[in-house]
Amino acid sequence: RKVLTMRIVMVGAGYVGLVSGTCLADFGHEVVCVDKEEEKIAKLRLGAVPIYEPGLGELLLANQASGRLSFSTSLKDAVEGADAVFIAVGTPSLAEVGSADMRYVYDAARAIAEVIEGFTVVVIKSTVPVGSGDEVEKILAARLPKDRFAVVSNPEFLREGAAIEDFKHPDRVIVGVEDDRGRSVMHAIYRPIERNAGPILYTTRRSAEMIKYAANVFLAMKVTFINEIADLCEQVDADVLDVSRGIGLDDRIGAKFLNPGPGFGGSCFPKDTLALTKLAIEAKAPIRLVETLVDVNEKRKIAMARKIERACGGSVAGKRIAVLGLTYKPKTDDMRDAPSLVIVPELQAAGAHIVAYDPEGVKAARALLSGVEFADNAYACLAGADAAVVITEWDEFRALDLQKVKAALGKPVVIDLRNIYPIKTMRALGFRYVCVGRGL
Ligand code: UGA
Repeated sequence: RKVLTMRIVMVGAGYVGLVSGTCLADFGHEVVCVDKEEEKIAKLRLGAVPIYEPGLGELLLANQASGRLSFSTSLKDAVEGADAVFIAVGTPSLAEVGSADMRYVYDAARAIAEVIEGFTVVVIKSTVPVGSGDEVEKILAARLPKDRFAVVSNPEFLREGAAIEDFKHPDRVIVGVEDDRGRSVMHAIYRPIERNAGPILYTTRRSAEMIKYAANVFLAMKVTFINEIADLCEQVDADVLDVSRGIGLDDRIGAKFLNPGPGFGGSCFPKDTLALTKLAIEAKAPIRLVETLVDVNEKRKIAMARKIERACGGSVAGKRIAVLGLTYKPKTDDMRDAPSLVIVPELQAAGAHIVAYDPEGVKAARALLSGVEFADNAYACLAGADAAVVITEWDEFRALDLQKVKAALGKPVVIDLRNIYPIKTMRALGFRYVCVGRGL
C-alpha cells in the first residue's frame, strides 16, 4: 500500500517528541526533530538516545540510516516545505498553582509563526488545558493570514516502557480539528496504522483536549480506587487480587489498572489530575471526585512509610532498610513524582539508613535523594538489611531467588508494596511478609 509521505517537524526532542518522531518516520514519513539543546541534538545525530525506552534506540538508528529521520537545532531550516509541525514540548505543573505551565507551548507557537511558509498544520501533542488550541491559533493569526495554517489537537496516549507499541498499535488516535485541510493532512499522517490499530476519532479541538485529561484522570481514579479497596481488604481479611480479578472480568469495569500499589506517580497522572482540578474550578464546575483522589494519593505515599515502620516492629530508627526499585514504574529510568521520593525521605526522617537498588533509575535518583547508599545489584542491596521493601515491580525482582534473599537479609522481613511474591511461598520460607491488600 502506497504511503503518502508527509514532511513532519517535531518541536521538542523529549520523551514524547522522540518517540512520536521516530515512529512517524518509521511509518514512512520524513521527520525532523528540533530541539534548542545543542548537546542533545548533537548526541541524537550520532544515534545516542538520551532516555531509556525499550526499542527506541534501534528504531531511531534504523530510520536515521534510511534518511527519514533527522535532528536539528534550527526550526527555520526544518520547517521548509513541512506539511505539519508538531508541538511536543513540556507542560509542567506551575509551582503552587498546579495548573499546566503553557510557556513552552506558546513560545513554540510564536517561533513557528515566525518561520512557516506555505500552508502548514500545527499539531499540539503536548498535554494542554482545554482551550489551548484556540490560544495557539491566536498566536499564529497575529502573524499569518488564516488560510496559511490549521491548528489541530492530537493528544498522546503513550505509556513509558511500552511507548513504541502504543504509538504503532494504539487503541485509538484522537484528532481534534476544525477544518478540512487540517483533517486531510492528519489522515495522511496516520493512514499507515489505519488497518492494524484502533479507529481514528475526529472531534472538535476542545473535545480532543478534554479526552486526554479525562482518559488519564479516569485511569488514575481506577488505581486510587483499587488502592483504597486494598486498604479495606486488609481490615476485613479479603484478598485484593481476587477482588481485582473478580471485578475486572466485568467488561464494563475492565481488568487493567487495578493493581494496588504505593500510589501513582510519573510525569502524567500527578500533573494531569491536578491540572484538571484547576481547570474545573476555573470553569466553575469543580470535580470533587478528582480533588479527593489527588489528596488520597498524596497521603498514601506517606502512609506507605508508616506501613513499613509497623512491619519493622513499630520503628525503623537505626535500622538498615533495603529498597528495591525507585522509579515510578518498571522499564523506565524516570523518577518524576515517584512514590519512592516520598517514602525514602519519610523513612530517613524516622531514623532509617536506606540502601537502594534500581535497574535504571539510580542516575536520576542520586540527584533527588540524599543520604542514600546505592547498591550495584539486588542481592548486594539486601545484604545484612533489617527489612527489604519493594517499591517498583521490576521483573528482575520477581525473578529473585527467594532462598538467597532470605540468606542475604539480616532479618527475614519483606514489605512488598507491589504484591510480586506469592504469600504462601514467602510464609513457607519463613519470611515476615507484608504486602498490599491481602489481609489473609
Ligand atoms: C500514562 C497513561 O497510561 C498513558 O496512556 C498516557 O499517554 C501517559 O500517562 C501520558 O499522559 O503521557 P505513564 O505515566 O507512562 O502513562 O504510566 P502508567 O503505566 O499509566 O502508570 C502510572 C502510574 O500508575 C505508575 O506510578 C504506576 O505504578 C501506577 N499504576 C498503574 C498502579 O499503581 N497500578 C496499576 O494498576 C496501574
